[in-house]
This record gives sequence, C-alpha cells and structure tokens, in this order.
Amino acid sequence: MSVTLEQCKCKELSEEEKYALLRDVIYDYDKNEKNLIQILHMAQAIFGFIPLEVQKFIAKEMDIPLSRVSGVVTFYSFFSTKPKGEYTIRVCLGTACYVRGGKKIVERLKEILGIDVGETTKDLKFTLEVMRCIGACGLAPAITINDKVYKQVNPDKLQQIIGMYH
Ligand code: FES
Repeated sequence: MSVTLEQCKCKELSEEEKYALLRDVIYDYDKNEKNLIQILHMAQAIFGFIPLEVQKFIAKEMDIPLSRVSGVVTFYSFFSTKPKGEYTIRVCLGTACYVRGGKKIVERLKEILGIDVGETTKDLKFTLEVMRCIGACGLAPAITINDKVYKQVNPDKLQQIIGMYH
C-alpha cells in the first residue's frame, strides 16, 4: 500500500478509520524503527498533530518503547503534539528581522490573536510561531502565513493582514 498526502482525505475519516489507516502505514513501513520519522510524518498528515494517544498507538504497533516515539516527536519542531490552526503565522526573528522590529510584530500578533507563541486560537484558525531567517532579510521584517510571505511588515498593518484570513 502506498499513501500520499494528496490521496489522503483524512478530514472525512472517523477516528477509527484514521487509526486503521495509520496501522496500514506502519505495516507499509515494515514496522521498522528506522522508518519512524516517515511514519510520524504520515501520522501528522492523518491526525493533523501527534497527541500522546497516537504516540502510544505507534509504540504499541511497532513494539518499541513509548519514550522512543515521544523522544523523536519532541526533538523535531515540525512535529506537533497539539492541534494546529488552519493558518500558521510565523514571524521571522532572524537578525535582520529582529533588528527591524520582528519582536514588535510578535507582540502585536499576540495581542490581536489573544495567544502566546506556540499556541493556537480556540477556533483553530491561527497558530503563532517564530522562525529563523527565511532569506528575505533585504525586506525585513518578514512573516509567513502558511506558504505566503509578507515582507516589510508594519505592526499597524497586521490587523488588516489577519483580517484577510477571517
Ligand atoms: S532575518 Fe528575517 S528574513 Fe532574514
């Protein structure tokens, strides 16, 4: 069996079906610990995040300690143990962006969204994160919302930018 992210209609699946699909993925990867990262990527694609229950399921199915699974999930920042928002807002805090007001942008976004960095709004619309340089230093400060890059962001314009996603 081969599952790709495009094929996966996971949002329409029940919890039971999601676990069944994850079990298929684990078997597809031969329950082999050296494939754990790929399996976790698929788990995140299926569930949207990797909560403890899913980590336990993977550990049991692969017959490896839970600590091994949790260790990998917490080590890599691209794995999330909490649900993420529909839109992930990342503020660049690389040197150029930091110097040109990146910190103010973070503060303003925290105010607008009512959440801290690393958190998701209650309506699961937005997740706020910070990131390292994305190579747009000449037009700092920069933020991204999912795949879209906003350059030379003015904190006073943030409300307007966020408004486009509501
Ligand atoms: S420091 Fe922000 S884009 Fe380079």
